[in-house]
Amino acid sequence: MALTAPANFDTEYLREQVRIEYDRVAREPHGTFHFHRGPEYAATFLGYEAADLASLPEESTARFAGVGNPLRIGDTTPGVSPLKPGDTVLDHACGAGMDLLLAARRVGPSGRAIGIDMTAAMRDCAAAAADLAGLSGIVNIREGFYENLPVESASVDVVISNGVLNLSPDKPRVVSEIMRVLKPGGRLFLADVVVQRELSLKSRSNPDLWAACVGGALTEKEFFELFAHAGLMDSRVVQRFNCFMGTTAEQKVSKQLFIHGANFYARKP
Ligand SMILES: C[S@@+](CC[C@H](N)C(=O)[O-])C[C@H]1O[C@@H](n2cnc3c(N)ncnc32)[C@H](O)[C@@H]1O
Repeated sequence: MALTAPANFDTEYLREQVRIEYDRVAREPHGTFHFHRGPEYAATFLGYEAADLASLPEESTARFAGVGNPLRIGDTTPGVSPLKPGDTVLDHACGAGMDLLLAARRVGPSGRAIGIDMTAAMRDCAAAAADLAGLSGIVNIREGFYENLPVESASVDVVISNGVLNLSPDKPRVVSEIMRVLKPGGRLFLADVVVQRELSLKSRSNPDLWAACVGGALTEKEFFELFAHAGLMDSRVVQRFNCFMGTTAEQKVSKQLFIHGANFYARKP
């Protein structure tokens, strides 16, 4: 099991590399990266509604870097309630906020959409986009780490997460924070990178490979173990996405490891 980073892993170095990478995504969204970004990618590869994205500011959509479609989990999974007006939703690493703004529209003026991110330039884009979209009364962006959420316990109806759990060297800690902030019965709509087989210790020990969203990726089985260990229930894979198709990551590693994106659902008892 690889739910935490190997001993002696340089967590601070990883955090700095991740910050540098996403600072660059915020500043140069059309630059060269090993992963896809933006609204066309989201609509073509991940099933987002192109018209929904076209109505959001580019400050947010051009910097989208997720690997799945968390809100679709509530819309398409039998027996699972979608986000509804009045809900409190938390995106625990919101980046430039595309999912957060879509969620804010759903929860409406009687709800709240809280976004956390550790990278200042991403938070600035998310806040600017919320303003431009007329959603700043609903959206609240906060600085923080998803390993230590600046959010009150048992205050959130739905946690959304897109393409970020793989980046944490301490995934049990991230999921225990999700459990803490969810209300009883609260839902987790999580999309992340998935590998077909467990990575070697050598790969998992390389912080540059982690920063590239590969070194810290889990298998589906490991996700289920992680959720069960935290006390989440009803966990399942809802949909899979070929999110690295045509990227340099696909050429270098993802074909060997069958890396893809997946939507997961789970809930707090
Ligand atoms: C792959 S991007 C995804 C952003 C967003 N969810 C999306 O779909 O566009 C990763 C984001 O996670 C943030 N991040 C990485 N590690 C974090 C941590 N420990 N706490 C909070 N944010 C983190 C980065 O700053 C970056 O904005």
